[in-house]
Amino acid sequence: MRTIFVIGIGTGNPGHMTADGIAALCNADVVFVPTKGEEKARLAAVRRQIIARYGAKPRLVEFALPVRDETVTDYAERVSDWHEAIAGQYRHMIAAMGEGETGALLVWGDPGLYDSTLRILERVAAMGGRFTLRVLPGITAIQALTAAFAIPLNTVGNPVHITTGRLLSRGFPEGADSVVVMLDGRKAYAALDAKDLYIYWAAYVGMDEEILIEGPLAETRDAITAARDAARARHGWVMDIYLLRKTV
Ligand SMILES: C[S@@+](CC[C@H](N)C(=O)[O-])C[C@H]1O[C@@H](n2cnc3c(N)ncnc32)[C@H](O)[C@@H]1O
Repeated sequence: MRTIFVIGIGTGNPGHMTADGIAALCNADVVFVPTKGEEKARLAAVRRQIIARYGAKPRLVEFALPVRDETVTDYAERVSDWHEAIAGQYRHMIAAMGEGETGALLVWGDPGLYDSTLRILERVAAMGGRFTLRVLPGITAIQALTAAFAIPLNTVGNPVHITTGRLLSRGFPEGADSVVVMLDGRKAYAALDAKDLYIYWAAYVGMDEEILIEGPLAETRDAITAARDAARARHGWVMDIYLLRKTV
């Protein structure tokens, strides 16, 4: 039986991997490395650095991740078609492994948070792909964010709402007091009613390029936008995450 390890590699800092994740990486016969499509070159480079840093010697199988067909207007259908295309590719790559071999997919952050690798592997199994699956968690961008600011994620006894920029642009979640926002290419924080909101914003958190800004949203959002735009222009890509906290 073939085995697939889905290993969380943290958010761009090799120190974010767990000892179990490193051991799995070092035991893998083959590591699948996405090189094109939505993957930016810097992210593929981080995966290679991690492999080198921990002295793993797997076969590297590079593959071009299919891109989403933006002409499909329905969001759910667009994502589903894209996942189906990736599943077909994974099925082919897994079938090309030797019987009894172990392959690894290195997933940004933790595989359980805003990542579809596990959902796509379910599709591969439904297509008839046969393999044993093991998941090795990694540090999430949320953990890296709260650690960078040395703050707790929640306020005492209260829940946390985790969402995307796309959904936040419809308004601050009703009744929430701590809201984590990921995948916000549209800078949804800038259009919110900023009254009584405090923001902890981080770009490239945990990486050499890390930028941290915090303060009342009304007073800091222009500085965040300026820093975000400048960083994107300088590096060619930006990943940011933030926590919005109600102050009353
Ligand atoms: C597709 S999700 C992947 C999340 C990942 N599985 C995790 O556990 O953090 C990508 C989003 O994670 C956040 N993110 C990941 N790495 C980050 C980093 N180093 N700095 C800031 N945000 C990051 C950003 O909000 C980005 O849009």
